[in-house]
Amino acid sequence: MKKFTLTLSLSVIAATITASAGASADQKTIAMEGVHYIKILGKELKSNVMKRMKDDPSGLQSAYFCSKSAERITKEINAKFPEGIHVRRTALKIRNPKNKPDASDLKVLKKMEEESKEGTLKKKPVVVQVDGVNRVYVPLFVEKGCLKCHGAVDRIDPKVRELLAEKYPHDQAVGFKEGDLRGVIVAEIPAEK
Ligand code: HEC
Repeated sequence: MKKFTLTLSLSVIAATITASAGASADQKTIAMEGVHYIKILGKELKSNVMKRMKDDPSGLQSAYFCSKSAERITKEINAKFPEGIHVRRTALKIRNPKNKPDASDLKVLKKMEEESKEGTLKKKPVVVQVDGVNRVYVPLFVEKGCLKCHGAVDRIDPKVRELLAEKYPHDQAVGFKEGDLRGVIVAEIPAEK
């Protein structure tokens, strides 16, 4: 059995913020605050997926968990954050229609995708301000473990494929390769707090 690895490399991200040139002190503070909230969601989803993947390497239990509980967990985590703070996931190719990107997400995602193809995309947060809200975007890359549910369709376990087809008839989030940009986690932090 292959070892299932799912690391978000967020500690690397946290370390590179301080090193990023050109960003103002304020931007760095916002980026670090965003990464703090992003890590909470990332870790919670990751640990749940890993736990189930260990029990069932086909990925079916994990896929069932994601489809049933990712939204609920995201809501519960957001409910515990200070007022106005919100984290969510989005991508260019989405599986869950509720994770659809808005215009500002699309701008960031398209730029990241371009940089990813050129090989210049850095694992560091991007901060933009939208209508008085600071948004911190952290890129998520496809790792080996992600392929069980986001890789080439013919390599996905038939039972997982069946579940995905049933729950997500318009699923776009397949056909990825290791190292591809899968999407982002976004933290939204009101600019005036
Ligand atoms: C066991 C199956 C499974 C694995 C493994 C998995 N995902 Fe997913 N993923 C899903 C399902 C199901 C959804 C849709 C439900 C949800 O999370 O909202 C999803 C949604 C997402 C989304 C939200 C955007 C969208 O398309 O709706 C992102 C981002 C994402 N996955 C990234 C990853 C990354 C990165 C990995 C590996 C580190 C990974 N996933 C591993 C099943 C999986």
